[in-house]
Amino acid sequence: MAPDAKAGLATRSIHYDSDLSGPEVAANISTTTTFRHPSPKQIASKPEGYYSDKWDASEPSRDIYSRYTQPTLTRVERVLSSIIGQPTVVYPSGISSAFAVLLLVRPDVIAITEGYHGCHASLEVYRRLRGEDQVSVIKLDDEYPNGKKLLCWVETPLNPTGESRSIAAYAKRARAVGGTVGVDATFAPPPLQDPFKWGADVVMHSGTKYFAGHSDTLCGTVSVRNKEDWLKLWHDRTYTGSNIGSLDTWLLLRSLRTLSVRVNRQSATATALAQWLASLTRAESGSDLDGPGGVVEKVWHTSLQEDRAELLGEGKQMEKGPATFGMLLKKPEYATNLPHSLKFFVPATSLGGVESLIEQRSLSDPNADPRLIRLSIGLEDFEDLKRDLVQGFRNVIQIEQGKVSKL
Ligand SMILES: Cc1ncc(COP(=O)(O)O)c(C=O)c1O
Repeated sequence: MAPDAKAGLATRSIHYDSDLSGPEVAANISTTTTFRHPSPKQIASKPEGYYSDKWDASEPSRDIYSRYTQPTLTRVERVLSSIIGQPTVVYPSGISSAFAVLLLVRPDVIAITEGYHGCHASLEVYRRLRGEDQVSVIKLDDEYPNGKKLLCWVETPLNPTGESRSIAAYAKRARAVGGTVGVDATFAPPPLQDPFKWGADVVMHSGTKYFAGHSDTLCGTVSVRNKEDWLKLWHDRTYTGSNIGSLDTWLLLRSLRTLSVRVNRQSATATALAQWLASLTRAESGSDLDGPGGVVEKVWHTSLQEDRAELLGEGKQMEKGPATFGMLLKKPEYATNLPHSLKFFVPATSLGGVESLIEQRSLSDPNADPRLIRLSIGLEDFEDLKRDLVQGFRNVIQIEQGKVSKL
């Protein structure tokens, strides 16, 4: 059956590669790195083989070697291109995706403020490669220079707070000087946000998070506006050897089948939790109504931003709130003890998986405030997560009061 471009996102996540399938219902797992060459007779009857310029990596007439193409990867890229809305290349990690964007755009000036610290480190590798004096880094809100190759790198929603930035506003400023807009959209996969609609030229995701969704697969994606750039990305991936492994590709395809239902549910639970946690910041220390006061200082989330009406809601940049967000606790000891006082939240870094994760952010990012907590909301029931946090807050107060022993 041919793919139906009019079908909804959830349907396309499940069926958009069905014409690439055999009789099996779930995709086959194949680990082969190499594929049989066709016979001279077969080549003569169908000349679009690898050595012909008709061979197209995005729709390969045959597979030759898995660094070029392999069937599960072709299927995954087909599905991702459909749900992200533009041609997409898959990578072995989010960081390799970020680096692929730099190789594609080859900027002389990069405008970036905050966001995932690993992307800043990746950018420094790029600067080293180019010559540090050849590439300057400015802030997103600085004035953009004319006549330089500018990459405006907008991470939105932002790691670790879950706050959103206006892609359209940065795109307008970047366009005015002929710059390129790259969006790290890891925190808001489809169906939460479509950065291309707001002016992005290149969109990357750490697919490790929501696309893979089960805390078991490192991967990343880069999407571009045309096939020419897709082919450049494919070329660079093939000849820097930054390929995702076959098993990981299969895990990713398996996970995409449930993307929409997972992300919608995670977003709804996270938004409700963020609202409730924000209400606790207004509770007096010593009070305990819908949870104890005096523990949570501040909560960040797109739904709590002052300019949320411009950014969040139907037809806005964010259709729904992100499922990962940050909160500041009153004391560093609270942030140290809370992750280990919970039953359902797992104390670990990363985000986007089916199990909720909680992290004192300074354990992963040494520059983070030691009171900062990041929560990634999974698929558990809202009431259970809320109950878990309430008893966790009570526990950290009791540790402070010496009523229960240290963890
Ligand atoms: C916003 C963002 N971008 C990129 C990355 C890097 O992705 P990966 O860990 O898959 O390499 C991460 C990882 O946490 C991230 O949060």
